Amino acid sequence: MQDFKYKVKTPSEVLVELATQHGMNVHDEEFHKILDDGDELSKFRERFEIPKLCSYPGVDCDITKEEDCVYFCGHSLGLQPKSTESHVQQVLQSWKQNANQCRYVTSLPLVYCDNQAKKGLSELVGCYESEVVAMNSLTTNLHLLMTSFYQPTKYRYKILIEQNAFPSDYYVVASQIRLAGYDEDESLILVKPRQNEELFRMEDIIEVIEKEGDSIALILLPGVYFITGQAFDMKAITEAGHKKGCYVGYDLAHAVGNIELHLHEWGVDFACWCTYKYLNSGPGGIGAAFLHRRFDNTKMNKLLGWWGHKESTRFEMTSDFDFAPGIDSYRLSNPPALLVVCFIASLNEFLEAGGRRLREKRFLLTGYLEYLLKHHFSEPSNTSKVTVDIVTPLKFAERGCQLSIRFSCPVHQVWKELRKRGMIFDIRKPDVMRLTPVPLYNRFYDVYRFVDTLRSVL
Ligand SMILES: Cc1ncc(COP(=O)(O)O)c(C=O)c1O
Repeated sequence: MQDFKYKVKTPSEVLVELATQHGMNVHDEEFHKILDDGDELSKFRERFEIPKLCSYPGVDCDITKEEDCVYFCGHSLGLQPKSTESHVQQVLQSWKQNANQCRYVTSLPLVYCDNQAKKGLSELVGCYESEVVAMNSLTTNLHLLMTSFYQPTKYRYKILIEQNAFPSDYYVVASQIRLAGYDEDESLILVKPRQNEELFRMEDIIEVIEKEGDSIALILLPGVYFITGQAFDMKAITEAGHKKGCYVGYDLAHAVGNIELHLHEWGVDFACWCTYKYLNSGPGGIGAAFLHRRFDNTKMNKLLGWWGHKESTRFEMTSDFDFAPGIDSYRLSNPPALLVVCFIASLNEFLEAGGRRLREKRFLLTGYLEYLLKHHFSEPSNTSKVTVDIVTPLKFAERGCQLSIRFSCPVHQVWKELRKRGMIFDIRKPDVMRLTPVPLYNRFYDVYRFVDTLRSVL
């Protein structure tokens, strides 16, 4: 983060300094205007479809109906870029007009459209374009990559994952273990938070790797943990895993488009992610995967399809499989153009916004939410009977834009009241509320409005 403007300060320190310069307090109503006025990315909000109070399901309140909802659910499904529709229309038009030739003509030959996502993807995850590809879905890609990276032997047959992993990841891992003829209970190592804690301690994960690494075939962890929003130290975990001879892969569903990633430099073996959360590609959008280029010429077990064949000779249609280099050899089928262009529409916004500006806004935006929550609900200034605990790490380097919080009262009641008032977020059982101000399209005003509404509800 060499170019990061707030390197040595906390978000609260920066916000207090800024407010003081304007003769204000951070919690003053007017302060969000100072922040929104200084927001270099404010124009991007207009490029997204923001749900309205008048049409969002379950909203029931007497407010000007054209007003926007406060959308804090980008960790689940990102908003639709306004350009998505025209991207989709172009594909439909080209198919209509060019029939089978739509695959080869125009500036976006549909048969090669996934290649056009490589540049944006490589910038988002920090790697070479040849190391990354848009294909399939997240769970499918995890299976495909694990087919190569989980090759158990008598002494090295275990997989290390986190306790309470996302269910799909757990199913992938458990079924791969069973497919390989091993026993799930004996072959899984679950790293967990310490007793009475809920964040994972990186030093504990590394200790388990150091102790048990000789029997671990694969470490598969999240880049950002979906419940708490905690970012894992991928660089340190990868290093520790490699020292013990383990392969190391990541599920980046909640990390990509959210935190800074340097997959190539960190030496990560492989990673998979979906693009419908922070990357706004739409429900069931195309997945993506990374494979470090040191494996380009390694012969590994793979499930094959014709799209993994070298492009130059693919259409010779022989039964000899000539592998495309690296991650491209994991492609199975020709790309689903409608899904790929939905993703490209959003990727263009990311490329224009730029990683540095997104990081700087995230620092302030999530920091502002943290500050207001603490000010109103956990400090002596708290006038409500209810308290709010922030579960997510408070250090900027250990989180993305999501804050998970817990109330001293039943969360469902709070959810119901906030939802009626157009506050959109989700809860994870039993009692965690996930709030995600997304730097690409959320405003500081959204944060202010959310906390203000929460105050009136509580
Ligand atoms: C952490 C994580 N892993 C896996 C998945 C499954 O994704 P998909 O249904 O795209 O395979 C999700 C979906 O939300 C997720 O959040």
